[in-house]
Parts: sequence; C-alpha cells; structure tokens
Amino acid sequence: MNEQETHLRTHMLPADKTGIALAAALLGTGEIVALPTETVYGLAADATNGIAVAKIYAAKGRPHFNPLIVHVRDANHAAEYADISDNAARLMTMFWPGPLTLVLPALSNTAIVSLVQAGLPTIALRAPAHPVMQAVLRTVGKALAAPSANSSGLTSPTTAAHVMASLNGHIPLVIDGGACEIGLESTIIGFEDNHPVLLRAGAITIEMIETVLGVLPKLPIDAAIIAPGQLSRHYAQTQPLRLNASYKNIDEFMIGFGAVKGDITLSASGDLEEAAANLFAALHIAGNSKAKVISVATIPETGVGIAMNDRLKRATLGA
Ligand code: TXA
Ligand code: MG
Repeated sequence: MNEQETHLRTHMLPADKTGIALAAALLGTGEIVALPTETVYGLAADATNGIAVAKIYAAKGRPHFNPLIVHVRDANHAAEYADISDNAARLMTMFWPGPLTLVLPALSNTAIVSLVQAGLPTIALRAPAHPVMQAVLRTVGKALAAPSANSSGLTSPTTAAHVMASLNGHIPLVIDGGACEIGLESTIIGFEDNHPVLLRAGAITIEMIETVLGVLPKLPIDAAIIAPGQLSRHYAQTQPLRLNASYKNIDEFMIGFGAVKGDITLSASGDLEEAAANLFAALHIAGNSKAKVISVATIPETGVGIAMNDRLKRATLGA
C-alpha cells in the first residue's frame, strides 16, 4: 500500500456513456482517472496540467519522475507535439490506433508539461485502440499522460479489480471496461539516426516493425538511447520466481503453459496471445497466494513470447 493518506472514496463505474462523461469531466478539472486500454489499465491525467500529472506520481507512490507515455487520438494529434519522421509516420499508419508507443523528438513550446517528459528532449506518444480510452480522449480534447494504474513496483493491472486492489482510496474513479485484450504494456520504439530501436518489447514484435520499415529494430544494448524506468523494480513480485519450470515443487504456485499444467495455465493450447492476455492476472493471483515461490513454465521466445519473457525476467530481478 502507499504511505500517503487514503481519504478518497474511489468509485468504480461501468464503461458506458455516464462513466465516460464523468471520467472526461474529472480529467478536464485536473483529476486523475483509471481507464481501460487494450494493453493494461492506465492512470490518466491531462498532460498539459502539471498539478494533474503530479497527482499520478503521488497516487502511484512513485519515488522517481520517469517520463510518461502521452496518449493521443491519432497521428494528426501526435503531430502537435512531436517531429514525425517518415519512418515514424509509416509505423503510425500501420499500427495506430494500437499497442505501439513511439519516442520522437518533442516540439518546443508545446502545452505538454515538462514533468511528463522528465526533462528529456523526446516525447513518447501512443494512440490507443480501446474504444473507451478513445472516447475519453475525444471528449476531453486533451492529450492524456497515463502510466499503468498500479502502485509503484507492482504488476500492471489488466482488470478494474486489479486497479482497485492497489489504488483504492488514492484516486476518485476507475472505469471498468473488462479485461484488457492484450494484457502487456505497449511496444516502445525509439529512433537513432532514423534507425528503429526496441525500447520495450510488446505485442507489436520487431519482425512486424521490419515488415513496415525494411530493417529490424536494434536492441537497446546495441544503441545509445534507453527507456528510463525500464530497469527498475517495475515488475517486482512479492515472492521469488522460478522460470522455465517443467514441474511444481511443494510450496510453489505454478503458472503453466501448453502441455505443462499449473495451478493456473496461461493457455492450455499453447497460444501465445491468449497467454499474454492472462499473464499479469496470473501473477496477481500467484502474488496473493500463500505460496513461497512462483514457478512459471517455459514460454517460447518468439512473437509476443519475447515480451512475456522480458516481463518475467524483470519480475525475477525485483523479488
Ligand atoms: O501500454 C502502455 O504503454 C501503458 C498503457 C496505459 O497505455 N502505458 C504505459 O505507460 O506503460 P508508462 O508511462 O508506464 O510507460 C513509461 C515508459 C517509461 O518507463 C519509459 O521507459 C518510456 O515509457 N518512455 C517514456 N518517455 C520516454 C522517452 N522520452 N524516452 C525513452 N523512453 C520513454
Ligand atoms: Mg507500470
């Protein structure tokens, strides 16, 4: 739990007209609201309001000011805030709206407050595909900064109940749009001399980027740019994780995949997209169990499996 006061009453509303209107009205007056996106639930604030953005950090209990992703309606909206290269424009055409964030040179003198960019000359932009997030963006008419809607250091939320479990009492409203379809945070792509660099793996794979740009994105170890906040205890799990497990030990909660059955199995048929959508919910359940160790079956290092293994490795580091 966060250490600051928990005096707020947190309302949870369905993602209907009333819920969306209230979310937009609160955001318009500088409040923060948890909203569903196709990746994970985001804790949104008007990116042009410094007090609102500061509330995100306070509610999450985040000790450091990492740069936040700015959510926009579409490529035209993005052009108000960043210099969009041809390569970036091609990726937007192909993958927006969707689970792809682009780190681009920020235009100077925009309305985005500096706290969002954490002092960097670049800005991370994403047009989300989720109809609720899109409806709120269009109703508020502002760009929305939104990190995952969980207290700092915990697994990202893929349901409204996950949001409530860590932010109840810290935010005024959660809009319940059901379980997130993708279940992992967006892929983040930056550019170095116009060459794409993978800053965070996600559902849009480097091979999918290659089909559009004709070059495979570099990995961060081969590039000079980094995504701040990616190496920290971001995905810390309360218990240690044992990866690539083929059996369950006594005292373990096992997360299975394919033929390796667990207490929870991410996808019995071995479907990676289905498994990705279930991963964070499984980690939440495992984290709430009394087991001393969480074991996880081998996830193939291909497609969205690469992003899943990335998050699991980070969770191991954090424990
Ligand atoms: O799927 C998602 O992307 C979710 C949903 C809510 O949209 N959002 C999300 O946002 O994960 P957030 O703010 O937690 O992601 C922030 C990460 C930072 O830790 C950093 O790695 C990267 O985005 N980032 C943001 N601005 C950057 C910049 N200018 N340069 C490099 N990396 C940046
Ligand atoms: Mg997060």
